[in-house]
Amino acid sequence: MAERMTVSYQKKPCYDIVFARGFAELTDELAKEEKNRSRRVCIVTDSNVGPLYAAAVCEALGGIFSVCEVFTFPAGEENKTLETVRRLYAFLIDRHFDRGDLLAALGGGVTGDLTGFAAATYLRGVDFIQLPTTLLAQVDSSIGGKTGVDFDAYKNMVGAFHMPKLVYMNLDTLQTLDARQYFSGFAEVMKHGLIRDSRYYEWLVAHLYEICDRDPDTLPEMVRRSCEIKRSVVEKDPTEQGERALLNLGHTVGHAIEKARGFSMLHGECVALGCVAAAFISWKRELIPMEEYYEIRDMFVPFNLPISADALDVEQIVSLTKSDKKMRAGRIRFVLLERIGKAVLDDTVTEDEIRAAVEELNFREED
Ligand SMILES: NC(=O)c1ccc[n+]([C@@H]2O[C@H](COP(=O)([O-])OP(=O)(O)OC[C@H]3O[C@@H](n4cnc5c(N)ncnc54)[C@H](O)[C@@H]3O)[C@@H](O)[C@H]2O)c1
Ligand SMILES: [Zn+2]
Repeated sequence: MAERMTVSYQKKPCYDIVFARGFAELTDELAKEEKNRSRRVCIVTDSNVGPLYAAAVCEALGGIFSVCEVFTFPAGEENKTLETVRRLYAFLIDRHFDRGDLLAALGGGVTGDLTGFAAATYLRGVDFIQLPTTLLAQVDSSIGGKTGVDFDAYKNMVGAFHMPKLVYMNLDTLQTLDARQYFSGFAEVMKHGLIRDSRYYEWLVAHLYEICDRDPDTLPEMVRRSCEIKRSVVEKDPTEQGERALLNLGHTVGHAIEKARGFSMLHGECVALGCVAAAFISWKRELIPMEEYYEIRDMFVPFNLPISADALDVEQIVSLTKSDKKMRAGRIRFVLLERIGKAVLDDTVTEDEIRAAVEELNFREED
């Protein structure tokens, strides 16, 4: 039997996260609900993930759905757009999908966000399930019901909260992930330890080799613990008023670097840099001792994540942090660390403090 945990929404049990190896158990997971119904399912996937896993998912769903369609869009953040959603609506209309049918998001966060948004809006809302296949999607984006697409130059500008019926993780899919994508997702895992759980952080450090090797016996424990942390945060604060903002550790500076680099660096790589910057400011404010700052900074390195970057344009990055969505009443809501395992929100961080932290990230010969 696969392991599971339940996520509540507005204090009521809402959907399960199932941790499995392979897609076979998906049949039983959905058969429970689908027993007396004959509905259609549309698997939404991208051009990398579809060829790897769509057939196995179709096979698992074949017995319980009357029709299993596959909609494939070209992989990449640049396709997380209303245009792709439009094509998906057209595909569904063409095949007479109705309110009782189901969408299944098979892929990373791009697929999950886009499919969830289509599910939230098609015919004023249809059911969907998440089948996340990247580390980022498993520990982060598939949980919490945030869905959306990018609009012109703005990330996640258009969206909706729409809870999935099920999040089913086939942990074996992580084995085919490109190494850079895998480690980028790992930055969010490290973040979970830093904001919430020092023992988890220590466990991650102690399992460095197994994690880097994607050891199949270690990954389930890691993904499960990270999901627990993400779950506990979204349960307390489903619409991101307070607590959920702690998940933004490393993201204010991270997003700014992501933009300044024209998205040539991966999200998690920028989050690692952002965490280093947040730890730096925390040290300068004497929230954490110097040794802890250096420890946090240096721990990203063995996980193949950057702690410095070439020729960062400090002024550009400082000014980009001000346009971050997470601003409130003109102030940047920054996440700082009180220690490893405890993050705090702070809206008094100044431009000068951010400037100093970004300067520190700039690659120098002696680094
Ligand atoms: N909704 C949320 O709460 C939330 C949270 C964080 C991030 N996000 C969003 O998530 C997106 C990033 O997600 P991502 O990093 O998963 O990117 P992604 O979906 O683009 O996947 C990364 C790459 O890996 C490929 N891939 C996926 N699974 C694979 C597998 N098992 N084997 C081989 N290749 C595979 C994809 O085709 C893609 O090329 C962003 O758009 C971001 O805004 C959403
Ligand atoms: Zn992130």
